[in-house]
Amino acid sequence: MALSLLCFVLIATFLFMQTLADTSCTDCFVQSHASFYPNSEENGTDTGACGFGSFGATINGGDVSAASSLYRDGVGCGACYQVRCTNSVYCSGNGVTVVLTDQGSGDNTDFILSQRAFSGMAQSKDAATSLLALGVVNIEYRRVSCSYPNKNITIKIDESSSNPHYLAFVLWFQQGKRDITAVQLCETQNFVCKLLDRDHGAVWTSTSPPSGPLTLRMLFSTEDGEDTRIVPVNNIPENWKAGDTYDSGVQVDQ
Ligand SMILES: *[C@@H]1O[C@H](CO)[C@@H](O)[C@H](O)[C@H]1NC(C)=O
Ligand SMILES: *[C@@H]1O[C@H](CO)[C@@H](O)[C@H](O)[C@H]1NC(C)=O
Repeated sequence: MALSLLCFVLIATFLFMQTLADTSCTDCFVQSHASFYPNSEENGTDTGACGFGSFGATINGGDVSAASSLYRDGVGCGACYQVRCTNSVYCSGNGVTVVLTDQGSGDNTDFILSQRAFSGMAQSKDAATSLLALGVVNIEYRRVSCSYPNKNITIKIDESSSNPHYLAFVLWFQQGKRDITAVQLCETQNFVCKLLDRDHGAVWTSTSPPSGPLTLRMLFSTEDGEDTRIVPVNNIPENWKAGDTYDSGVQVDQ
């Protein structure tokens, strides 16, 4: 009797420890502070450090943010975070989901939100007015999957590009919660590839890119360093032009 009770306690303890070990804290909220862009419109900025241009101001309905350490030299560009303020009088339970499109730091803040996103953490319009008056608020945040229903990953050729000498582009609408950690540019016909430089933010560049139709190979990495290579279905056409966008034909959801 005593033995079986001991067994039970041991097994229960083991299962409990197992549960603890399994809940790694990648989904846990982290305490921090957030403020909002001063002197700005509701949305984010067209000139965000990620190099997304006006996409970086209005993507996700304008719920965007600048980040300080989470910017990670540009690797954090395009990552999504659930951010909720913690004052129970003003703040809603879910807060907002924002996309990182810029770099910036303030008063111990991890996020400088667009005014729309900052107000979006409030329970009501009046509460939003009170939150905005506070300027900096206590928040908690966690990384979440980005979601762009009915969108494929899209290649946006940067305005600074000039065919055939210089190719710069950003990738729009990446779903999930992985980082794009490397991009190769390949000649579609013979699959000779070169590794691109992350010039700044989310901008990948190549001086003297190969001619002909081009294929990308993108490396997606999880926080645990698990890598997956993804090759778009569609090519970048030979006559690519600055400012144009090309549908990659692929999407990810992790
Ligand atoms: C902010 O972005 C939203 C969503 O893209 C857009 O509809 C709205 O016009 C923008 N607001 C301003 C002030 O630019
Ligand atoms: C995404 O790409 C697939 C081809 O891989 C295509 O059939 C589909 O229409 C694309 N979706 C959008 C929204 O462009």
